[in-house]
Amino acid sequence: MKKFFSVSDVENLNDIVNEALSLKAKPHANEELGKYKTLGLVFLNPSLRTRLSTQKAAMNLGMNVMVMNMDKDGWALETRDGVVMNGTTVEHIREAAAVMGEYCDILGLRSFPSLKDKEADYNEDLFNKFISYCGVPVISLESATRHPLQSLTDLITITEYKQVEKPKVVLAWAPHVKALPQAVPNSFAEWMSKAQAQGLVDFTIAHPPGYDLSQEFTQGATITQNLDAALDNADFVYVKNWSSFKDYGKVYPVTDDWMMNNEKLKLTNSAKVMHCLPVRRDLELSSEILDGPNSLVIKEAGNRVWAAQVVLKRMLEDLNK
Ligand code: CP
Repeated sequence: MKKFFSVSDVENLNDIVNEALSLKAKPHANEELGKYKTLGLVFLNPSLRTRLSTQKAAMNLGMNVMVMNMDKDGWALETRDGVVMNGTTVEHIREAAAVMGEYCDILGLRSFPSLKDKEADYNEDLFNKFISYCGVPVISLESATRHPLQSLTDLITITEYKQVEKPKVVLAWAPHVKALPQAVPNSFAEWMSKAQAQGLVDFTIAHPPGYDLSQEFTQGATITQNLDAALDNADFVYVKNWSSFKDYGKVYPVTDDWMMNNEKLKLTNSAKVMHCLPVRRDLELSSEILDGPNSLVIKEAGNRVWAAQVVLKRMLEDLNK
């Protein structure tokens, strides 16, 4: 594996999930694989889980890890080509990415969308430039449109906790006070759509009017604006807010109650409730669920290690060929 950016970088979902679960059973079985290899984690935005779980995964494989908080500690980056850099930007991504590639065998990059320029965000301009200039394998730590380590984690968690062969999985929009990216729901939708195509889940998306995701990510999903109908017989409910894709980055007022709580949980097949975190309590998801027996959010966050470890393992195996 030379790049981990979307579900299309993984052929067989069952294989990668089973490999991740075997790493969970024996975390240090490959601790020689990453010896003398360096992972660089580059953050243009904040992170708790992605930063720590990826570091831990790399350490389990014997790698050295360096973390660069570009947003706080780096030079102000220029990403446009053909501009005279006589403004506030100090270093071009061409040099910055290439230099980091000199120091690292594998790089990870987190870069959120602007939510202002849909074309630039959905073309993944910054991410693609980073990949082409750094010259080493790259893992997405969340890009403008996707969060694949989170989605792989989510599939691992669903596989681990499912009670039926083919569980019903519902992605449920939830309220928020800010305009959030579509990266997590896009990514969850494309991974679940592929999982559905491979016979692993039944997948439904529920959102209020105006919050349709790009069809690029939702192939084969049942899509509804009726949350109660979506929750009927659900085995997993994945709660997440996102801003509008069509009216890019906008937040429409939603008067109906879309926050997941114990009352809504009664409509489900005693569903397990998931969220990528961080979560705003009693706005996106009720405290009674988060503190109750149906919440998987902590176990889900724990599984971030195994998603990162299986991806790093595959990249290291490729480097060592
Ligand atoms: N879910 C997730 O990516 O968490 P962080 O933003 O804290 O890394």
